[in-house]
Amino acid sequence: MDLRAVRGMNDILPEQVHRWHRLEADFRMHAEVHGYGEVRTPLLEHTSLFARQIGETTDVVEKEMYSFERHSEQLTVRPEGTAGAARAYVEHGMHAKEPVTRWYYLGPMFRGERPAKGRFRQFYQAGCEVFGDPGPLCDAEMIELVTSFLRRIGVESFAVHVNSLGSAGTRGRYRDELLKFFTPLRDRLSEDSQRRLEKNPLRILDSKDPRDQEAAQGAPSILDLLDDEDQAHWTGVLRYLDVLGLPYVVDRGLVRGLDYYTRTLFEVKATASDLGAQSTLVGGGRYDNMIEGLGGPKVPAIGFAMGMERLLSVIPEDAGRRGPRCFIAPMGQAAAERAVLLARELRSFGLSVELEGRGARLKPMLRRADALGARLCLILGDAEVERGVVTVKDLVGHTQEEIPLEGAARVLADRVGELGPGSSQARGMR
Ligand code: HAM
Repeated sequence: MDLRAVRGMNDILPEQVHRWHRLEADFRMHAEVHGYGEVRTPLLEHTSLFARQIGETTDVVEKEMYSFERHSEQLTVRPEGTAGAARAYVEHGMHAKEPVTRWYYLGPMFRGERPAKGRFRQFYQAGCEVFGDPGPLCDAEMIELVTSFLRRIGVESFAVHVNSLGSAGTRGRYRDELLKFFTPLRDRLSEDSQRRLEKNPLRILDSKDPRDQEAAQGAPSILDLLDDEDQAHWTGVLRYLDVLGLPYVVDRGLVRGLDYYTRTLFEVKATASDLGAQSTLVGGGRYDNMIEGLGGPKVPAIGFAMGMERLLSVIPEDAGRRGPRCFIAPMGQAAAERAVLLARELRSFGLSVELEGRGARLKPMLRRADALGARLCLILGDAEVERGVVTVKDLVGHTQEEIPLEGAARVLADRVGELGPGSSQARGMR
């Protein structure tokens, strides 16, 4: 019996989880100030939802979904968040409640891909979806939301790739062009692509197989086939990106791996990372036909999702490092009795405190305080208790002083509050 975690699925232990809390809190705040509200949809949906919306001939649907039958229902553990959000939008008649709906979500997604660096079978996404706004300004603003978030969390080295897939009519014409282009090259394609050629030749452009990538050299670009309305939308997006001063790369080969996209597509890739093929931090685009396809009204939509493990791998390891603000080192019985009360007082001011309860010598206790990343070490011996004082050692500022025990908690809480955002632990970690 294998008692280890399922391959590609990871435990996140307390020593790491604080980085997640921080990223999640930053994302929530960022989404909220842009007018988004959080939506929480079930982890399980009917298999048909994903099969129809993501597309029967995509890798996700053909090979990666965790699907099963229970109580005569075919269910799938969500491989992504967009289809579920769109289903909820239709099910709750959101279009009748507000003209534009902005939702964000955070949570685990499941895809049975081959695990690799930055690629997991359970991974976490943070994403946003906007329903009801068809215009190019909305697309550019969404890219702005993404890039300002990346900067906010300390990611500076990235490139924004954009492309347009056009609307359904344009895609139909593009499909015919691709079929014409790839049919003579059929024998050189991977088995998957040969099989998908008639049904969905667009998928060949997204294939990771070197045979397909070679065959796709010189394939026609959909940008050359856009109709007037698609073209107006596309140039509008680029114009707004220029107005916002956001650099981008027009990536004619960008098609993305999900079938629901129309018009604008975008990805953000890390440019200074060791993620290799998994350097795509963010993927998104417009999907103007999904709501109608789900039985709802004709409501356009656009969204993105970012992989949280990938983000965490490119933000500095020590950003928001967890550690108690105060470490209390008591020496002696009377000191321990006073220390346990002091810890309670400090915590009542919202400070995080670790109390050394094992009774140790000073040196090892100081070493422990350092290792934990504590800002202050409060040293309390029986003699200090007798004199009504506590020694406060600032482990970052390298200063030491005695302060009266009476009222010490308030004084220390105020001081910690003044450490300011420059300190790696000060933000949100009092
Ligand atoms: P996606 O490109 O499949 O798009 O995934 C978005 C992001 O999730 C990727 O760029 C990557 O950072 C992360 N990701 C995907 N698969 C894995 C994996 N196996 N391991 C680790 N990270 C992964 C979507 O999911 C769309 N729902 C995005 C969207 C929202 N489009 C419109 N609205």
